Amino acid sequence: MSGDAVVTLRDVARTRGTEPDSFTLEVPSLTVYQGECVALTGPSGCGKSTMLDLLGLVLEPDRAKVFSLRGHGDDAIDVAELWQDNRVDALAAVRAVGIGYVLQTGGLLPFLPTRDNILLSPTLLDMQENDLVDHLIDRLRIGHLLRKKPRALSIGERQRVAIARALAHQPALLLADEPTAALDPVHAIEVTELLLELVSDLDATAIIVSHDWDMIRSLGFREIRAVPMKRGAGSATRFEG
Ligand SMILES: Nc1ncnc2c1ncn2[C@@H]1O[C@H](COP(=O)(O)OP(=O)(O)OP(=O)(O)O)[C@@H](O)[C@H]1O
Ligand SMILES: [Mg+2]
Repeated sequence: MSGDAVVTLRDVARTRGTEPDSFTLEVPSLTVYQGECVALTGPSGCGKSTMLDLLGLVLEPDRAKVFSLRGHGDDAIDVAELWQDNRVDALAAVRAVGIGYVLQTGGLLPFLPTRDNILLSPTLLDMQENDLVDHLIDRLRIGHLLRKKPRALSIGERQRVAIARALAHQPALLLADEPTAALDPVHAIEVTELLLELVSDLDATAIIVSHDWDMIRSLGFREIRAVPMKRGAGSATRFEG
């Protein structure tokens, strides 16, 4: 295994629901390297959000031979072992420090104005004030929205705020679930390019879900496509890359 792998998965699987309505996701092998931008693609229901939830440590795998994440520090964290030992506090800490997650549904807290939504992770982590938040607000052009609550924002504005919130604590790994799905094609490309630029500025690694294969290819993502499989009576998908 190369020294600069940020995500390493070997023989990881998770089943949701029960047969015949079950869905199984299998990952025989996946390695994502420092600085890479990877896109998970595939049709609706193929397990892209399930895959991100596993990577975001919000969904427990049923099995995981190897599941390790490396943050900005040097040592890889053995996530498989943390799940096995039910170390939920340690998992929450890894998630809070190392991962930024733009949820498919936005995920902003409705009772907090935009500014507080963006500052949530740095505040919870007791981080020193720095220029990053101002930089994100400036680059994502959301400075005029800071006092507004999420319900008073357009969907596109919410998506830009959600990106700022996910990056504000300088995570090593950004996960984004269709972060530009609600935007027109021109703005979708603009925001995705900006997201890539910010990820590179922050020395981070990005795994995003997208339906827009043309955009993914034109922006140079490494594409990992869902492969349908047969497993018992339910449906199943494999991601490998
Ligand atoms: N809690 C659950 N219980 C049972 N099945 C579930 C559950 N959550 C999701 N599923 C099923 O898992 C499969 C994968 O869902 P997932 O949300 O990961 O798909 P997706 O690729 O993100 O789809 P979309 O592009 O529509 O967002 C679907 O068939 C879905 O019905
Ligand atoms: Mg989804």
